Amino acid sequence: MWILGKHDEGIRKRRKSILELVGNTPLIELSKALPDDIKDKNIKIYAKLEGYNPGGSVKDRPATRMIVDAIREGKLTKDKIILDATSGNTGIALSMVGTALGYKVELAMPSNVSEERKKIIQAFGAKIHFTNPLESTDGAIKFVRKLVEKYPNKYYYIDQYNNDSNWKAHFYSTGVEIWEQTEGKITHFIAGIGTGGTIMGTGRRLKIYNPDIQIIGVQPDSPFHGIEGLKYIETSIKPGIFDENRLDRTMFIGTDIAYQRARELSQKEGVFVGQSSGAAFEAAIQIAREIDEGVIVFICPDGGEKYLSTALWEY
Ligand SMILES: Cc1ncc(COP(=O)(O)O)c(C=O)c1O
Repeated sequence: MWILGKHDEGIRKRRKSILELVGNTPLIELSKALPDDIKDKNIKIYAKLEGYNPGGSVKDRPATRMIVDAIREGKLTKDKIILDATSGNTGIALSMVGTALGYKVELAMPSNVSEERKKIIQAFGAKIHFTNPLESTDGAIKFVRKLVEKYPNKYYYIDQYNNDSNWKAHFYSTGVEIWEQTEGKITHFIAGIGTGGTIMGTGRRLKIYNPDIQIIGVQPDSPFHGIEGLKYIETSIKPGIFDENRLDRTMFIGTDIAYQRARELSQKEGVFVGQSSGAAFEAAIQIAREIDEGVIVFICPDGGEKYLSTALWEY
């Protein structure tokens, strides 16, 4: 039984920077939110809670690595502004990490992203260029490419969709953590696909530990969906770091069931997460129905608080 006040040394330690708190997120075994038909099976389902990163999402990992690598390689110098196209979480993470390291940050994003995301980014002091919501993230990417063409010396374009430091962040942290947290017992890894960084990096690492681990990517089931953070790859600009051949399988999840699963995590388990976590949880449930035993880990990219003004919590 968990005892109040008995935390890991890691959390109690004094820190020199907020960035030292990126990664090492909790892995939670689910029980009450599991449907009855899988409760009796010899299956464990774990949620990796990336909302526990200091910027509130999985994106703190790649944002830190992409910025630090660019500084190390001499591409990002103090006179340059960090620039990227982002649907929100990467923007928050880049704003936090950029600020912590003393850089200015500018971001392009569709104007319909949630109010909470915009405000958090502005709270970190970053500037936002709003783009056409009908063009989704692809419109923001096109805008940024034009800006960089016009002012090549002003910006350092992070380009999270084509930046190898994105997936490497997960290769060197998320994958290692999950292996250790499951004591090598993981059989299935599930993550939603935005840039593909999480699934590519974590998947590569887990396959090195054990090639039998199934790597399962999650996409929305239609180009017009409400699962913020995820991409329907077929009709989007394909991220350069995403290689479908590295996945064992892709599962397509509907918006309604993703929302329902996110609410179940919150209301049955006390785990407050966003809609892309609900999509990954539904994929985990579908896998659990197909197998007799196994250890399934899925990523919860962020918490539910950034979606309070969206349909997720209006039902
Ligand atoms: C809420 C949410 N879920 C999932 C993802 C997908 O992560 P990745 O870009 O690593 O594929 C993102 C990324 O933007 C996100 O913001």
